[in-house]
Amino acid sequence: MSVYDWLDKRLDLRPGLAKMLDHPVPTWVNWLYCFGGITFFFFVLQAITGIFLMLYYVPSPDHAYESVQYITNTVHFGKIIRGMHHWTATLIVVTVVIHMLRVFWHGAYKAPRELNWVAGVCLFLLTMGFGFTGYLLPWDQKAYWATAVGTNIAGSVPVVGSFLLKLARGGTDLGAVTLVRFFDVHVALLPLFMVIFLAGHFFMIRRQGISRPY
Ligand code: HEM
Repeated sequence: MSVYDWLDKRLDLRPGLAKMLDHPVPTWVNWLYCFGGITFFFFVLQAITGIFLMLYYVPSPDHAYESVQYITNTVHFGKIIRGMHHWTATLIVVTVVIHMLRVFWHGAYKAPRELNWVAGVCLFLLTMGFGFTGYLLPWDQKAYWATAVGTNIAGSVPVVGSFLLKLARGGTDLGAVTLVRFFDVHVALLPLFMVIFLAGHFFMIRRQGISRPY
């Protein structure tokens, strides 16, 4: 008896799994429909490589740069794990944009899928948020000045600008609090919202099925 049979006998897994997995793929679905799934695969990869990076990364101005150098040059497989996290972050932006264009091209944002388009827009903004907050973490010159410019842009928003700038930086200047804030948003807040919105996105896809191209 397999482990699966043993568990199934006790937990009656078969009907639930069948409901989830025995789903015919519509005949009009082609390779263009793969980009949502590829984006999801990349997110899983980011979560796994990110957890490994967190074992050595230190979010403080005194240690962030050195800890990233240590990961890259000393830790076993560190260079590969960091490289995967870096390049997948770039590829995600490419695949999510192709996915969005596919949905738009096929008119899949129309009724009854408007709400899923809105959820998708939130997923897109979260993806950009990961990129922006992750960029600061190596705490090198490029990271520091890119974040100085990015937060200055937020600061130039009429009326609420100075509030947004202080919120992002944790004060008027870029420093230790900024780094901790960006780290916290990158590894806790954004992943939490990502999981919530992905769950909603997938729930709606299963309830509504994949659209026929208009
Ligand atoms: C984190 C990013 C995202 C992931 C992982 C994701 C994942 C998926 C997956 C797996 C599907 C099934 C069909 C397919 O892949 O084409 C899908 C469908 C859909 N996605 Fe996304 N998506 C993301 C972002 C977006 C964005 C940015 C939009 C639009 C602004 C969007 C709007 C939709 C809509 C409307 C559907 C239904 C399409 C249909 O029924 O033909 N998604 N998504």
